[in-house]
Amino acid sequence: MIPKLLSFLCFRLCVSQRDIRGDGSLPKPSLTAWPSSVLSAQSNVILRCWTPTRGVDFILRKGGTILSVPKSRESTEGLAEFHLNDLKGSQAGEYTCEYYRKGSPDISSQRSDVLLLLVTGYLPKPSLRVYHQVKVTAGEKVTLQCQMPDRLFMPIMFALLKAGTSLPIQYRSPTGRETDFSLEDLTGSDTGNYSCMYYQPRAPFQASDPSNQLEILVTDWPGNASGDYTQGNLIRLGLGALLMVIMAALLFEAWYSPKESPSGS
Ligand SMILES: *[C@@H]1O[C@H](CO)[C@@H](O)[C@H](O)[C@H]1NC(C)=O
Ligand SMILES: *[C@@H]1O[C@H](CO)[C@@H](O)[C@H](O)[C@H]1NC(C)=O
Repeated sequence: MIPKLLSFLCFRLCVSQRDIRGDGSLPKPSLTAWPSSVLSAQSNVILRCWTPTRGVDFILRKGGTILSVPKSRESTEGLAEFHLNDLKGSQAGEYTCEYYRKGSPDISSQRSDVLLLLVTGYLPKPSLRVYHQVKVTAGEKVTLQCQMPDRLFMPIMFALLKAGTSLPIQYRSPTGRETDFSLEDLTGSDTGNYSCMYYQPRAPFQASDPSNQLEILVTDWPGNASGDYTQGNLIRLGLGALLMVIMAALLFEAWYSPKESPSGS
């Protein structure tokens, strides 16, 4: 029982989330946008391509086409930063990155997941309103409605944005001119300023201005664990506590069990 539990604990705690691949191919890198993937025209954004593999070279693509954009850091650290400055609407689109190890032949990685970069201000601003109230208690739900001023006869998607978060937090297709976003099982960390926008999910990826901001306030229950513990941490703490209890029980048993065995051998 104990060795099994220990090896399970070690499996959970000792092995990190590192990508170990059996076939020797290079795992895909991750691509993120800073400060955000939704930006106004003329602003600057840094696209970061990251992989745990060191000593590789990176490539950035937009819609499959290789881009040559200034890179800030040499790729010895497994990180490349691509700077897109003074953004124009034509730079909106689907970006991916990949890396390769020089050799003969070069070995290249798989492409990262697609990052959708949106440049706002090309379609009229939508409005955002909240059903019921903006002050809620942890565990409750809030529904936000985003509405565009005119019905557009082209494919459109809505996105819900939260200030300080680099990616939209929800995407929804419209019902007529509007859509409802629901935020469920809220916790204190969901407190913040929300806005919405809509965009064309295909080229030329035109995007509206963001709506007005709505501040949502989520109050935690007194005495409830705050949002600081992730579920994974709670599981680890729980397993650690269980192990301590089992060890205490074994010690207790060893201490109080009869010193001689009943058979007398
Ligand atoms: C903790 O919060 C949940 C909702 O997230 C609530 O149902 C529960 O009653 C709270 N517990 C305490 C001890 O306040
Ligand atoms: C929301 O925005 C307002 C105005 O910028 C600011 O005063 C407020 O602190 C923000 N709320 C949160 C939770 O960040």
